Amino acid sequence: MLKIAPSILAADLARLGAEVEDIRAAGADYVHFDVMDGQFVPNISMGIPVLKSLRRATDMFLDAHLMVDRPVRYAEQFCKAGADLVNVHVEADEPGQIQAALDRIRSCGKKTGITLKPRTPAEAALPWLEQVDLILVMTVEPGFGGQRFMADMLPKLRTIRSWIRERGLSCELEVDGGVDAETAPLCVAAGADVLVAGRAVFGAADRSAAIRAIRGIE
Ligand code: DX5
Ligand code: ZN
Repeated sequence: MLKIAPSILAADLARLGAEVEDIRAAGADYVHFDVMDGQFVPNISMGIPVLKSLRRATDMFLDAHLMVDRPVRYAEQFCKAGADLVNVHVEADEPGQIQAALDRIRSCGKKTGITLKPRTPAEAALPWLEQVDLILVMTVEPGFGGQRFMADMLPKLRTIRSWIRERGLSCELEVDGGVDAETAPLCVAAGADVLVAGRAVFGAADRSAAIRAIRGIE
């Protein structure tokens, strides 16, 4: 079943608890929590204390996307703060340290994910395929919400989906950046089963209608 993960980067952060309640009522599946460190990406968003507060406010599945340099340094803290899944960028450290980050997340009893930036080839996912719970393909340069969807990432999604299928794996394939009612069907056709959407959900007056439109339900 297709899952919708609204990115709270586009929410009214002064009303975060209410915003999350609102998207739950509107039919969202995951809450996508974007962490930016001003180093790995040229922007700073939110971090551990905000996640901790959010965990107290909701029991929704929290999908933490760490756009953070050398994420092994913080993996455990994000787990303890209440993330259900912690996702690290493969570009953010050398492979041994990425493995160490994934091991820490798993030993905290949380789900693991890896993310690929637009210029990172599908092949970069291969070493991790068999062990992670989710692979995230970025369809914008990470750092900012509200950017234009990069349709040239669709072949990457198709390739990774075929590898997941061939190997009989259960790992989810998530897409992040510029997803809306127009681009969502392209992602789904290419094999995505979790769609992150920031502006398309939080920017809509009727969020329930927005989520249904992204799912392709009129
Ligand atoms: C970008 C973030 C995205 C972003 C998506 O660096 O990882 O999650 O919030 O926002 P939209 O859907 O508005 O492109
Ligand atoms: Zn994200």
